[in-house]
Amino acid sequence: MANHNTTIHAHWSSRITFILAATGSAVGLGNIWKFPYITGENGGGAFVLIYLLSVAIIGIPIIMAETMLGRRGQMNPIATMEHLAKEAKVTKLWGYLGWMGVLAGFIILSFYSVIAGKTIAYALKIMTGFLSQLNTDMVEHAVMSLNDSIFALTLWHTVFISVTMYIVARGINEGIEQAVKFLMPGLFLILLILVAYAMTTDSFGTGISFMFNFDLDSVTGTTFLLAMGQAFFTLSLGMGAIMVYGSYLPKDISIGQTALVIAITDTAVAILAGVAIFPIVFANAFEPSMGPDLIFKTLPMAFSHMFAGNLFGLMFFVLLIFAALSSSISLIEPAVSYVVEKYEISRQNACIIAGALTWALGMGTVFSTNIWVDATIFDKTFFEVLEFISANVLLPLGGILMAVFAGWVMTLESTAEEFEVSKESFLFKLWRILVRYVAPAAVTIVLIAGLF
Ligand code: PHE
Repeated sequence: MANHNTTIHAHWSSRITFILAATGSAVGLGNIWKFPYITGENGGGAFVLIYLLSVAIIGIPIIMAETMLGRRGQMNPIATMEHLAKEAKVTKLWGYLGWMGVLAGFIILSFYSVIAGKTIAYALKIMTGFLSQLNTDMVEHAVMSLNDSIFALTLWHTVFISVTMYIVARGINEGIEQAVKFLMPGLFLILLILVAYAMTTDSFGTGISFMFNFDLDSVTGTTFLLAMGQAFFTLSLGMGAIMVYGSYLPKDISIGQTALVIAITDTAVAILAGVAIFPIVFANAFEPSMGPDLIFKTLPMAFSHMFAGNLFGLMFFVLLIFAALSSSISLIEPAVSYVVEKYEISRQNACIIAGALTWALGMGTVFSTNIWVDATIFDKTFFEVLEFISANVLLPLGGILMAVFAGWVMTLESTAEEFEVSKESFLFKLWRILVRYVAPAAVTIVLIAGLF
């Protein structure tokens, strides 16, 4: 029996499912775990403003470029890049851009799954009353013993990868679409409930002004770098996730509009996550600048002091799990679609292979907080090396190359045709300028500064 899900020629069943899937990819640990803590560490408002600017002038044009490349190619990212290079009569070496994306996806998913696994462990802990009468020692102890436990970390990492691969194995329509149709509405609902909850605290105003008060003194060069890097990571750009999702996009759907919806929704979720978290943190007189442990230490402490903290704390960790899952499926889809198309093996088997490889690499992150904690390279643990290589090197590099390909290699005619706009339209001209000059220049600065 022919199974339409095993081919890349599957298509989203509607515009809204594409938007849900792409937004699901974008909204992830980057929005709910990373955005609040880097905002907290970098002075709040100033960081937020620069981040918003980066999304507008770099993020949106590159989402459009990446979706457009995928839809024009109609294949997995590697084959798509090779095909488009042929169409533009340039070297086939562009196929390596697809390879780089597949590699980045493996690397990101490997550590993403371990962090997501920790959020599962936390959700279960909360169900057994972890947040009742929590004190600083207890929360320190909980974080430490989880980081020390190879067994627990491996268990939850394995569970998370397995669920991800199960969804991806079911294909585009039966797997990814069904998952995001459930996860995304759930995610929005929980987020809104948490925002409403934060509004009931006395510190709502303090939390809001922390996020939106622009304090020029706290802006440094690093603020720009972090904000631009965050824009990339959070929009899932530069590694082929958006490209492969774009390849499933029917021809009659406008890329510009959907890109805008995705960017705005992703940004709104990050801002709302901050709006939910900071008032809760301030209401309990905690500091917002605690770093990556903000959600694993500060927030549980804050919840434990609040009305119905167990319930709302649990909701928060479920929110993280949902967000992580709808992103993880997009991290591995480029690799799976490549294997299925290239070797004509079943999607199920492709998922077993891809899942096993990612799982194995993820064990390095599991060991990074215990037996390998001192095995550092340039002062970074295995996990930090992977995070650095993927977020600070591979994604920005992939992003510039996609922008260059869309803006310089492809002809004006073929891009205008794929966007279904006239070459003379103002928005199309604006997109060309952003994708040809502004985005590559800005991202090159991020990349070089990030490396040195
Ligand atoms: N955008 C996701 C997040 O914010 C991470 C991600 C990066 C997903 C790249 C897919 C591709 O957590």
